[in-house]
Amino acid sequence: MSHLLHLDSSLRTQGSRSRTLSAYFAQQWRAAHPGGTVTYRDLVADEIPHLDETAYTSLFVPPADRTPEQVAARVYGEALIDELVAADTVVIGLPLYNFGPPSRFMAWLDRVISPDRTMGRLGDKRFVFVMASGGGYGPGTPRHGWDHREPWLRHAFEPLGVTDPAFITVELTLARESPAMIPLDLGADADRSLADGMRAIDTLAA
Ligand SMILES: Cc1cc2nc3c(=O)[nH]c(=O)nc-3n(C[C@H](O)[C@H](O)[C@H](O)COP(=O)(O)O)c2cc1C
Repeated sequence: MSHLLHLDSSLRTQGSRSRTLSAYFAQQWRAAHPGGTVTYRDLVADEIPHLDETAYTSLFVPPADRTPEQVAARVYGEALIDELVAADTVVIGLPLYNFGPPSRFMAWLDRVISPDRTMGRLGDKRFVFVMASGGGYGPGTPRHGWDHREPWLRHAFEPLGVTDPAFITVELTLARESPAMIPLDLGADADRSLADGMRAIDTLAA
């Protein structure tokens, strides 16, 4: 049966474009997969603690030799991995923070890397990153190439067996919000970027 894992990582609950996009993807996916299962995880409301030494070493210690803390860390980590492994499609809402992905998403990724269960094993899943950025980073812009999410995500997910993730990026979300951007009068471009993103989802979620 079809199973969607839907993750969000924007700190905003109001006005978040990445949450709008991921929710729209889930809505379209549900319409295309009646009877499918959707698992939702909000990486901000339900924050995942950073991987620590106990959790990291628990991956490499045989079960019988684990400390109680390592056992607890494995229970927590395996539940996140179960959620990921059960899905056949994963949609991830991802804002641009300081030219990269948000730390809450990184905390999730660190926890689901497992030599036994995820490394090289996720190639049968479809990953869709729906992303928002305050500025614009396309060719010809002063900061072309400064949005490091897509190249980094391609490298981070390749060892997991994910060779062809999809990326939908909506830009200029601060066009009407940031005092520095308002004078640039990019509101119409921002609207166009959002509309393009929604249209791309119509195709991908089917
Ligand atoms: C902590 C933080 C860092 C940000 N860094 C950047 C940045 O480096 N480049 C940029 O274009 N926008 C940056 N922004 C703006 C967000 O990318 C923008 O608001 C985007 O729409 C966030 O996604 P959301 O709409 O889903 O919340 C930053 C916002 C926050 C809160």
